[in-house]
Amino acid sequence: MKKFDVIVIGAGAAGLFCAAQAGQAGLKVLLVDNGKKPGRKILMSGGGRCNFTNLYAEPGAYLSANPHFCKSALARYTQWDFIDLVGRYGIAWHEKTLGQLFCDESAQQIVDMLMAECEKGQVTLRLRSEILNIVRDDDGYTLSLNGDEVRTSALVVASGGLSMPGLGASPFGYKVARQFGLPVLPTRAGLVPFTLHKPQLAQFQTLSGVSVAAVISAENGVSFRENLLFTHRGLSGPAVLQISSYWQPGEWVTVNLVPDADLAAFLDERRSAQPDQSLKNALAQQLPKRLVEILQSEGQIPDVTLRQLNVRQQEALVDLLTNWRVQPNGTEGYRTAEVTLGGVDTHALSSRTMEAREVPGLYFIGEVVDVTGWLGGYNFQWAWSSAWACAQAL
Ligand code: FDA
Repeated sequence: MKKFDVIVIGAGAAGLFCAAQAGQAGLKVLLVDNGKKPGRKILMSGGGRCNFTNLYAEPGAYLSANPHFCKSALARYTQWDFIDLVGRYGIAWHEKTLGQLFCDESAQQIVDMLMAECEKGQVTLRLRSEILNIVRDDDGYTLSLNGDEVRTSALVVASGGLSMPGLGASPFGYKVARQFGLPVLPTRAGLVPFTLHKPQLAQFQTLSGVSVAAVISAENGVSFRENLLFTHRGLSGPAVLQISSYWQPGEWVTVNLVPDADLAAFLDERRSAQPDQSLKNALAQQLPKRLVEILQSEGQIPDVTLRQLNVRQQEALVDLLTNWRVQPNGTEGYRTAEVTLGGVDTHALSSRTMEAREVPGLYFIGEVVDVTGWLGGYNFQWAWSSAWACAQAL
């Protein structure tokens, strides 16, 4: 039976990085994945350019039942450390918006970099491997891999969450946690588009493809200012993906569709300048014309000139456009979600090492853990930081 100092399950962002670090520290590392190539989500990420970190990564950008848990790892391996690594590989990058860093060329460069780091650490990579069984005894863990058995004293679970089953996502990590008595918090899709109830969908479906700047707020008061996109299923775009992580079924979200203007002051100013301009044309200076037309055809925007718009109508209009209340029907679910909220309960792990408190030698890193970042490179930063923290302890 082959023996390794460390076996890492999952050759995604966290697993590749952890295996590389452990290998470079002189440990004999086996990295196992069920897919046919490593880093499949990295390759898909950021529209193929991988939003690999965020300049503003800090604990407040992460959701967890235990908000303090992520602090230690994020502080010890920061976005600047990863930017430094990317720089050493000569990978050119740019900030797109809101601190989000993307490769200039391709996400493949990040995977190539991580593979080169694994090679430096002489990591053995085994792809297309299912872990059929894990047995623990006093000396460590024995894993059955498609008919083959391997042993280790340190087992790192980096098998990710449930989002995008087409990219190899599986509940494997949660099963391992439960096998060894660790609590797993309920999971749900995060960073995911909303679907709408039929009447509202029928109303807005023709707007599919239209994007507006918006401030979107959840019932708990959290809000994001980014773009909202109408789709043929409902609502998407960065604003919606962000708020979806804070939304629970049955709740409402509130949208300000004119976040850049004081709408009442704008209408007053337009009325003085051009009283006979139609309200529709005036609003089209602040909102996509198609959206204004649809709201007018629905009777929600009066078909009047600015001179004819009375005080009560203006107040109702301002309320409609700055306080648009939507009750999503649901989300598109794991099929299109970028992340999985919930997962291995961090109360059962050491925040310094990611090791299970009650199960020596068993570690959980990356998305399988109940730490979920905002959209914008925060989730990869958690993968790098948690992997690094774990590798220091191996
Ligand atoms: P990850 O999912 O990367 O890796 C888990 C690995 O485990 C996979 O290789 C899988 O095949 C393997 N595995 C699963 N079950 C197994 C089993 N039973 N046996 C063996 N192996 C198993 N984040 C970000 O910060 N910036 C971005 O630009 C994006 N973009 C993005 C786009 C898309 C389409 C998605 C779906 C997600 C993103 N994300 C993102 C989120 C980001 O991809 C995610 O948070 C990290 O990949 C999580 O890294 P992990 O290593 O924890 O899991």
